Amino acid sequence: MIAEQLSRYFGGLAANQNVSLTLERGKIHALLGPNGAGKSTFINMLSGDLPPSAGRVLFQGRDISALSAYQRSRIGIGRSFQRTNVFLEFTVLENCRLAAQSRRQKPWRILTPAQADREAIARAEQVIAQAELAGSETQVAGTLSHGERRQLEIAMVLATDPQVLLLDEPLAGMGGEESARMVELLGRLRADHAILLVEHDMDAVFALADVITVLVNGELLESGSPESIRQSPAVREAYLGEDEEADHV
Ligand SMILES: Nc1ncnc2c1ncn2[C@@H]1O[C@H](COP(=O)(O)OP(=O)(O)OP(=O)(O)O)[C@@H](O)[C@H]1O
Ligand SMILES: [Mg+2]
Repeated sequence: MIAEQLSRYFGGLAANQNVSLTLERGKIHALLGPNGAGKSTFINMLSGDLPPSAGRVLFQGRDISALSAYQRSRIGIGRSFQRTNVFLEFTVLENCRLAAQSRRQKPWRILTPAQADREAIARAEQVIAQAELAGSETQVAGTLSHGERRQLEIAMVLATDPQVLLLDEPLAGMGGEESARMVELLGRLRADHAILLVEHDMDAVFALADVITVLVNGELLESGSPESIRQSPAVREAYLGEDEEADHV
């Protein structure tokens, strides 16, 4: 997936300006930047939740800029939200079944409702296992721990058979053990997906990222290997700077 010179303006505010990057299967591309840098705006333009003011999104050689979020999810672009997207009163299995059903139906396949349901449940069970939630199928989502709920969100995205995963702060609010589980899960998803990871947890970012892009004030400051970003004076000054996160870098 390729983002080409994406810009987004909110009135006079440039939330993103000419941001380009490429996501590749087998690689985790981390997108860093201070609060308000424009990271979620960028994800929203890739997912189709927000139309860009300028620029294009390419997927498998095709310009998909005009496709809606729903259409993009049907062709393999999955996203998780910075805030949770789970039906709290439904069980883990129901949440995943709904995700599988809402986006997987192939219009050219004539399935009976019962067959479609069986397929969706089978897919739900697979992704629950993949997200390490096996055993929690019948648990009501509202009673999950915070970390489990974020695992459920990943499972729900996986249920849509994505090739691209756009993940907005999947570790937000997690304790050490929960973070470690999520890092392990994301590491396992790398092989089969192109992943864009927006994350403030620097330990996780440097443990996972193959490529890092830094956004500041809506503009791409620098993009490169974790090592080059770690050593970049511009990045240190503009972002990692004086704050304590620099200790981890
Ligand atoms: N719908 C909107 N309307 C107006 N301004 C917006 C809108 N969405 C985002 N912005 C502004 O655009 C800028 C970028 O916001 P964005 O949410 O993309 O930042 P972010 O990097 O994701 O920040 P955080 O790390 O806090 O999640 C901010 O100044 C924000 O206030
Ligand atoms: Mg954000």
